[in-house]
Amino acid sequence: MLYLLRIKLIESEIELIISDGRNLYHLFDSFWDNALVTLKTKMHAYYYPQEPAVQGEAPTRSTVTTDGLLKLGVEYYRLEEGQDVDSQIDTFSSERGYSNRDVVNISPQSFGESYAEKLAIFFQEHIHEDEEIRLILEGSGFFDVRDKKDQWIRIALEPLDLIVLPAGIYHRFAPDEKNFTKAMRLFKDLPKWTPINR
Ligand SMILES: [Fe+2]
Repeated sequence: MLYLLRIKLIESEIELIISDGRNLYHLFDSFWDNALVTLKTKMHAYYYPQEPAVQGEAPTRSTVTTDGLLKLGVEYYRLEEGQDVDSQIDTFSSERGYSNRDVVNISPQSFGESYAEKLAIFFQEHIHEDEEIRLILEGSGFFDVRDKKDQWIRIALEPLDLIVLPAGIYHRFAPDEKNFTKAMRLFKDLPKWTPINR
């Protein structure tokens, strides 16, 4: 039996959440595509208007599924709600060989006068020699990644969303209108964050 749980207008798209009694599914109905993805997620990824816009090319808002992200090497995980975060991260870290972690608090309060300067650094398009793993603990924010055609995909993350960006993918980070992101960063060895700007 199929239950329709919610219809919500998100910008120019219609979000439908339906259930088969056991699982939740997220149905995005847009002019550009129809994507049915299992929903254990608050994550929403979509093509982001290019900057500057390429002449003659209409901006797109089409949704990118978790499978679409995976084709770029971007892995998305959703931690279980109501379960201990540290023990879930312990399991994840040991499976992937990560031994270190820290927590970063990105907000005007934490960075003070250097907030704008820090955001400019985070928003500078860059790559790393290693993969980048981030778990959103509180707040929210955007990771933008380039697809294989150099188009921006914006990935909106909320608490319990975990993203793995592969080494060598161009990306950047931006807060949303809340200006608050508390995130855990996982490292294989000592904490290191060396961006190679484009
Ligand atoms: Fe980065």
